[in-house]
Amino acid sequence: MNCSFRKMRGDEYYLLEDFLYEAIFIPPWCDRDVPRDIIYNDPKLYASIENFGSLPDDLCIVAEYNGTVIGAVWARTVDEYGNFDNETPSLSISLYREYRGRGIGIKLMKEMLDLLKSEGYEKVSLGVNKENYAVKLYRKLGFKIIGDGANETEWLMLKSLRQA
Ligand SMILES: CC(C)(COP(=O)(O)OP(=O)(O)OC[C@H]1O[C@@H](n2cnc3c(N)ncnc32)[C@H](O)[C@@H]1OP(=O)(O)O)[C@@H](O)C(=O)NCCC(=O)NCCS
Repeated sequence: MNCSFRKMRGDEYYLLEDFLYEAIFIPPWCDRDVPRDIIYNDPKLYASIENFGSLPDDLCIVAEYNGTVIGAVWARTVDEYGNFDNETPSLSISLYREYRGRGIGIKLMKEMLDLLKSEGYEKVSLGVNKENYAVKLYRKLGFKIIGDGANETEWLMLKSLRQA
């Protein structure tokens, strides 16, 4: 599938509400969707998108297919699930369901890691549910588990961006 990748434009930031909702982990055994309100009612979730674009570390790259944004990865340094410290941006990523499992997510992540490197960041973190298959994707990209995340269901993962 031929996708292109580019920075998200300011007039597209509202799409992050959708992508945050899509990023919420639903275990394979769960047959219900989570209510959308959760993104506004959980402060650590909402922190990852609230007034996006207003903070110095706010960076977002989208995947576009046939002129439509189908996925996004975004970085910011706030008290959200993937936060490590106040110098390390943390990442969130999701694709709309029908575009998953086709190699787009890993390319999108690589674009973001290159961007963060070029902007001079030393490391990047993220939080991920321990049961989420995305743990495998993050390991492939060089993220290491450094311990429990915001609660015992989550891992906190960290990657150095220093050149080898
Ligand atoms: C996580 C996500 C962004 C990955 O993007 P993707 O395009 O689906 O993933 P890719 O096709 O690039 O796969 C990259 C690697 O991830 C892992 N992976 C992807 N889908 C998987 C699945 N269904 N089961 C197990 N591993 C999977 C594999 O290691 C894969 O590499 P491989 O194909 O060489 O084995 C996407 O699936 C998604 O939006 N998921 C829902 C939201 C989410 O969980 N976000 C992360 C929150 S921390």
